[in-house]
Amino acid sequence: MLARWRGRDIELKTPGELDAMRVAGALVARTLAAVTERARPGVSTGELDALAEETIRGAGAVPSFLGYHGYPASICASVNEQIVHGIPARTQVLADGDLLSVDCGAVLEGWHGDAAVTIAVGAVSDADLALSAACEAALHAGIAAVLPGGRLSDISHAVQVATEAAGRRDGVEYGIVAEYGGHGIGTSMHMDPFLPNYGDPGHGPRLRPGMALAVEPMLTAGDPETLELEDGWTVVTADGSRAVHWEHSVAVTEDGPRILTLPA
Ligand code: MF3
Ligand code: CO
Repeated sequence: MLARWRGRDIELKTPGELDAMRVAGALVARTLAAVTERARPGVSTGELDALAEETIRGAGAVPSFLGYHGYPASICASVNEQIVHGIPARTQVLADGDLLSVDCGAVLEGWHGDAAVTIAVGAVSDADLALSAACEAALHAGIAAVLPGGRLSDISHAVQVATEAAGRRDGVEYGIVAEYGGHGIGTSMHMDPFLPNYGDPGHGPRLRPGMALAVEPMLTAGDPETLELEDGWTVVTADGSRAVHWEHSVAVTEDGPRILTLPA
């Protein structure tokens, strides 16, 4: 979501409510798996969107992106220099070497799940694979900081540190997109708090069992500056460098992070 602070009221879920979120999250995971399986050169992002909508509705859930502030599809499909919120289209046919980020959300019995993966379409360059691996590693570092008693910015910091470590390993300075980040999730897709993907640790709200957060780093191979296209949605890198996006919805529990959007 777009960076903004609206306050510090963070929804707390009971263990039973987190179990309900887990069901919604598993459906999101299954949908992303189906989309990943189908994504290949020659397939359009519009077809992937239709597949996602069928998968979600077939499970008795509703695609949460469709109609959200007028958004016209069930997934976001962001190709190459597109970072997030790319609109799928039948005219956008995937090509060998494309880097495709797919973001998906579903609401089931009032509870939301939200997750994203970056998919290598055909033979993707080693640099692109490294970029995507860096982002996935940063996501998991952030998730590991979703701990009761910790602070929100501990997650942000963990994402930043992991991104920098991956960059050192790869000999690249990865860009961390600043204008967009993670968010609280539960009875709505986007709730307080906004969760930046960088920052010093030890700040922000204290993490308590029952909170749920979407952790979603977005990294670029070059400068992290963004532009929004005239469609009012698609966010691209200003320098045209490639971008990736990985996301899970995660709950804070007494036992540590509980990833809600893993496959069942
Ligand atoms: N997961 C995306 C985010 O947190 C949700 C996209 S909303 C949509 O930004 F309207 F673009 F679908
Ligand atoms: Co999200």
